[in-house]
Amino acid sequence: EKAGHKHFMAKEIAEQPGVLGDAIGHYLSNDGLDVNFPADGLDFTAYDRITMVACGTAYLACLTSKYWFEQLAGIPVDVDVASEFRYREPPVPARTLAVFVSQSGETADTLAALRYTEGKADKIAAVVNVPESSIARESDIVFPIHAGIEIGVASTKAFTCQLTVLALMALKAAVAKDRLDAEGLAQHLVSLQNLPGLMNIALGLSGDIKDVAAKLAEARDVLFLGRGAMYPLALEGALKLKEISYIHAEGYASGELKHGPIALVDKHVPVIVMAPHDRLFDKTVSNMQEVLARGGKVVLITDAQGAKIASDGVWQTIVLPEVSDLMAPILYALPAQLLAYHTAVAKGTDVDQPRNLAKSVTVE
Ligand code: M6R
Repeated sequence: EKAGHKHFMAKEIAEQPGVLGDAIGHYLSNDGLDVNFPADGLDFTAYDRITMVACGTAYLACLTSKYWFEQLAGIPVDVDVASEFRYREPPVPARTLAVFVSQSGETADTLAALRYTEGKADKIAAVVNVPESSIARESDIVFPIHAGIEIGVASTKAFTCQLTVLALMALKAAVAKDRLDAEGLAQHLVSLQNLPGLMNIALGLSGDIKDVAAKLAEARDVLFLGRGAMYPLALEGALKLKEISYIHAEGYASGELKHGPIALVDKHVPVIVMAPHDRLFDKTVSNMQEVLARGGKVVLITDAQGAKIASDGVWQTIVLPEVSDLMAPILYALPAQLLAYHTAVAKGTDVDQPRNLAKSVTVE
């Protein structure tokens, strides 16, 4: 049942190209040039804002999609962890779309947050892996992520499928708000369909990542840095690492480094920098140089162009294929997952059932 893998997590990481291809197939029109949503659809012209609520990795998928909804569609997005949202009882203004993201669809805090928005939000949408779940049943509209059963406690394929469905929603929203035409949409959809191929290339780097992980396993603290939509991914990389390897890890927005965390940096602290060669690359590299100047050990995850410019003085460089800005967080999730996985294996921890954690948190 692990299909030849040592752990469910390894299997679930490896099957992402196929699973993602399937998930995309469920939402694309036959000609692949448009997105088909559930029958009653979502009319994004009816909403002025989106409020997104989730926990853990699902929360980080929301945080990533905030960049997409805001940049592509111009819709302001609030993102909250469910345990804060439900007790803060925030106002929900008119013309708000509420979106709840949950792999299991049973997370107690997320469900309670959803119930709080009933009668307040204009529409409640669920992005779930389990279509029969409570969160799906209590929503107005359901977007299944089609990831298949996820057994490893550390969420992997559900995260990339959540991102995929949220990216499709953001693209549809951009079209509805007249900020993207049919041709622009089609271009994004072509690059989305190329993503499984790029993911296969990323999986091929598993051996290199394992070598890095062997050294990471000796660390006590690890920092993850990213800018823009790569910032939530830095948080996700840190969450994955602490969950299964029990190494203390924190994710930061690169620009926040000098506001405190750089005080931690010395030659014992590996710093993982997630930086495709995009419009923010130079900014991230200058933050990375501040780390190098303090003897920090940098693992740079980038593309060929980025590696060419910025590999000097870096401890390890992991080179991913080039990818569109929109799809970058989905592709860069794979090395983050593999880094956590191989580090945990090197430490001999229980990868699929880490201590103190449950797959589905149905109590508050
Ligand atoms: O089932 P959900 O997506 O609602 O679960 C949310 C979190 O409990 C979950 O993502 C958790 O953070 C994972 N263990 C992360 O790998």
